[in-house]
Amino acid sequence: MAKAKTSFFCQSCGHNAPKWLGKCPSCGEWNTFIEELIETTTHPADVWKKNERTKISSKPKLLNEVSFENLPKIVSPDEEFNRVLGGGIVPGSLVLIGGEPGIGKSTLLLQIALQIKGPKILYVSGEESEQQIKLRADRLKINNPNLYLLTETNTQQIFKHFIELEPDVVIIDSIQTLFSDQIDSGPGSVSQIRECTVELMRFAKESGVPIFLVGHITKEGSIAGPKVLEHLVDTVLQFEGDRHFIYRILRTTKNRYGSTSELGIYEMLSEGLRPVSNPSEILLSPRDENSSGIAIGTLMEGNRPLLIEMQSLVTPTSYGTAQRTATGFDAKRLNMLLAVLEKRGNYRLGTQDVFLNITGGIKVDDPALDLAACMSIVSSFKDKMIDSSICFAAEVGLGGELRTITRIDARIAEAEKLGFKEIWISKFVKGELPSNKSIQIKKASNILEVIRHCLS
Ligand code: TYD
Ligand code: MG
Repeated sequence: MAKAKTSFFCQSCGHNAPKWLGKCPSCGEWNTFIEELIETTTHPADVWKKNERTKISSKPKLLNEVSFENLPKIVSPDEEFNRVLGGGIVPGSLVLIGGEPGIGKSTLLLQIALQIKGPKILYVSGEESEQQIKLRADRLKINNPNLYLLTETNTQQIFKHFIELEPDVVIIDSIQTLFSDQIDSGPGSVSQIRECTVELMRFAKESGVPIFLVGHITKEGSIAGPKVLEHLVDTVLQFEGDRHFIYRILRTTKNRYGSTSELGIYEMLSEGLRPVSNPSEILLSPRDENSSGIAIGTLMEGNRPLLIEMQSLVTPTSYGTAQRTATGFDAKRLNMLLAVLEKRGNYRLGTQDVFLNITGGIKVDDPALDLAACMSIVSSFKDKMIDSSICFAAEVGLGGELRTITRIDARIAEAEKLGFKEIWISKFVKGELPSNKSIQIKKASNILEVIRHCLS
């Protein structure tokens, strides 16, 4: 009998080696190599190739002749979902949705499947029974006569159903439960995940049917299975949030059809996920009279301006070195801002513990939030409140100077829409700013100037 063909795979990045290695030469992880059986003589994805419908003859085309007209996107009624995908579901695209267990991936995709009326949708589940899915659909209180359920984990069987049913959209929940007959290792192993994804990708590309894959993520937060999974698919969406809070964020981390910095916000209610179309409202919490340490900053997520609340607590250190803790904000950036305040403003922060928090549980990395972060810290330090009708939009330099930021007009417009009366920006902003607005645009060259105006 011929010896079974095996190979060693790094479980972290998917690197393939003919023998066991202690350290992966590709990602540098230790002890991640596992021997897996491989057998790839004939390709199983060829099963469905016999189908006439899937036959596409490829030939070189002039770039000028390529048009977008023959790419009709399927637009779902869920605006947030369309936005993160870059406008809608692109035919033949392979979309991976990653997220922690219980965050709501299955709920989101079932809800989308129920909402898209018209196209034939196939929901393949390897995790839940038909009854469980039906129960969830009842909970969502939406009905779709064109939605088919399939509980199956073998890709060859799934392809047979694709040929019979001819679905227009396919959802696979989850990629880690699938297995292909071509590979002998168990479901969830690197070679199985890769093989199943390759088979599905070939199906999607050649038939033009968009496929959504649910992927579990590891403790470290990356999508379980090899990195190659992320290379293979067209779009990677991350579904984030704290299971104990109701807000969920759908973030694009890779998109061959649109911007990667898009973001959709949902609220997990008892009857499903509700898209939040005006997120600034949830990111700003109602305020009591005497709440020092709060400042409102502006943030661009993709093309979308958001107003966001920054909270600080500055208290004298009771023992040892001062603590600096930032949630949702870069800790190094916080240290830099504290050094600027100490050196340029003479605020004795070295003997203070500083905690900085972004509300709503989102992570930010927009330098335009610097000024708001500094203002919230100084406000808590002085125990003086900043007027709740003021917001801030500027980067702070090492000299305490305010620097200009991108998309200033969009930020001002959003602040105005939400009823803010004053926005502080850098004096060095170039170009014309819109006049006759109901919001006052205040310019300053230095952070101390802003502190003098707002906190004295
Ligand atoms: P689920 O979609 O099963 O998560 P995942 O597929 O990412 O593992 O979501 C499960 C959680 O969502 C579960 O704790 C119950 C909650 N939930 C609601 O709060 N409202 C709902 O309408 C539904 C269907 C689920
Ligand atoms: Mg699930």
